[in-house]
Amino acid sequence: MTSEPQQPSTHGQKPVLSGPGQDSEFLTTTQGAEVNDTDHSLKAGERGPTLLQDHHLREKIMHFDHERIPERVVHARGAGAHGTFTSYGNAGKLCRADFLKPGRQTRVFVRFSTVVGSRGSMDTARDTRGFATKFYTNEGIFDLVGNNIPVFFIQDGIKFPDLVHAAKPHPDTEIPQAQSAHDTFWDFVSLHTPAQAHVMWQMSDRAIPRSLRMMEGFGVHTFRMVNEEGASSLVKFHWKPKLGVHSLAWEESQLAAGADPDFHRRDLAEAIDAGAYPEWELGVQIFPDDGTAVFEGIDLLDPTKFVPEELAPVQPLGKMVLDRNPENYFAQTEQVAFHPGHLVPGIDISDDPLLQARLFSYLDTQLTRLGGPNFAQIPINSPDSPVNDMFRDGFHQHRVPKGIAPYKPNSLDGGCPYMSQVLSGQQPPLDFPQPVASGKKVRSEPASFSDHYSQARLFYISLSAVERAHVQQAYSFELGKCTDTAIRQRQVECLAKIDTQLASGVAQALGLPAPAAVQLDDPVASPALSQIGKAWPVDG
Ligand code: HEM
Repeated sequence: MTSEPQQPSTHGQKPVLSGPGQDSEFLTTTQGAEVNDTDHSLKAGERGPTLLQDHHLREKIMHFDHERIPERVVHARGAGAHGTFTSYGNAGKLCRADFLKPGRQTRVFVRFSTVVGSRGSMDTARDTRGFATKFYTNEGIFDLVGNNIPVFFIQDGIKFPDLVHAAKPHPDTEIPQAQSAHDTFWDFVSLHTPAQAHVMWQMSDRAIPRSLRMMEGFGVHTFRMVNEEGASSLVKFHWKPKLGVHSLAWEESQLAAGADPDFHRRDLAEAIDAGAYPEWELGVQIFPDDGTAVFEGIDLLDPTKFVPEELAPVQPLGKMVLDRNPENYFAQTEQVAFHPGHLVPGIDISDDPLLQARLFSYLDTQLTRLGGPNFAQIPINSPDSPVNDMFRDGFHQHRVPKGIAPYKPNSLDGGCPYMSQVLSGQQPPLDFPQPVASGKKVRSEPASFSDHYSQARLFYISLSAVERAHVQQAYSFELGKCTDTAIRQRQVECLAKIDTQLASGVAQALGLPAPAAVQLDDPVASPALSQIGKAWPVDG
């Protein structure tokens, strides 16, 4: 039995691309040995069986068989872009983070996403959009993992699996909520009424953006910022798109879903290719850190609440420009791992119970999604600043650490800057004056979390007549897909607690009796909302 090369050697052919894994002049195995035929497997005779000894065949098929990794459990469909954040340098009184200092330019990677659809779903589905930004700062990675809606469905992370199970495709048919029965989604949100404010935004045109370039972004939770003197403030992050906020009409979103399911990712990539670089301003609403975490009656630890900009104007801190498309979708957009706990000195979390659960969830899911504990070494996840974590080994370890003493205290590896600081008696600077936490262990929520309707109403009444009509049509259409009359009725009763006319209009469209009138508090009549334009300490 002989095997002869069927093809001339590839040796000497110039590669089209170069880079890691593409740096040989000719085709090789993963071990760097030249491959002279990648078109035919080795067989016992031209028409005979394939031989197990064909290593190139086995290696090529083995690698292909494992190309797919699990998609994200939520936010599976995304589009990314590289860019730069330029600080305005006016945050000195607010925050000591280096990337906010005057003149700082920081590399960023942004991933926009839908929440519920799978990786192959359409871009223009009615859904919340993720807006996650990785800042590769001099002091380590800062991730701002936000959405395009400033409020969330739930107030406690322990409800997240329930929410996602209710919103994902039906477990028996795997038919997405957006195209079939909506029973589980409406069942959940009409029973778990903290979701009503988020759902109101979802039924508005905000949930069908015209372009990813035309969306606002929100950090949603309240964070803390601390300045050089150790003084802290509470903040909410905002991204404001230079192009303004624009949406599709519902009919356009449906047509685009059929004609071009990649509508948003194509628009983003083409705009960047054409030099029409999208821009956003990063800003913060600032609240005093007086120990109450309440501002004008709004509980800042409740992620179902936003603070109207009339009460706390957004103060711009810098500008982000996205000017480079990913070089490789999988290596960058798919493998990027955001985490709300990736923070830099000067920025810290609050006690928002949703945020606290997120801090656990992202690391946990990424351990599975990215195959072990070393995913911070994947190029898109690696900080630009030096790393010295004393972590060792594990799947997909790419570092070759030097030294013999990855532990502390040690007296052997004195070369490491942190260690030498410790050895010389110098302590690294303390990050923050931390608030004291104490209390009886409970499984309950504060009374201030119990208002589930006024913020939905606040948003609804801020809309124009056309936008309100769209909201009514969206509720009527989406609830119309719910096959269970009792669930529809229950959701209409929730709407009656938000706006009587809206509830009646939706009830009529669904052929349901008009809901009983409910006495509503008017959020606009609140004295807090009449105070406009409070300025907090950002330099002029
Ligand atoms: C992914 C935002 C709440 C669990 C994401 C992503 C965004 C996001 C933007 C996509 C990140 C990417 O592009 O890779 C938010 C916001 C929330 C929220 C704004 C609330 C304000 C939660 C909660 C949990 C959670 C409460 C769980 C307790 C996850 C998980 C992923 C994810 C598991 C997938 C991460 C990965 O596989 O890399 N979230 N999320 N999220 N979120 Fe959230």
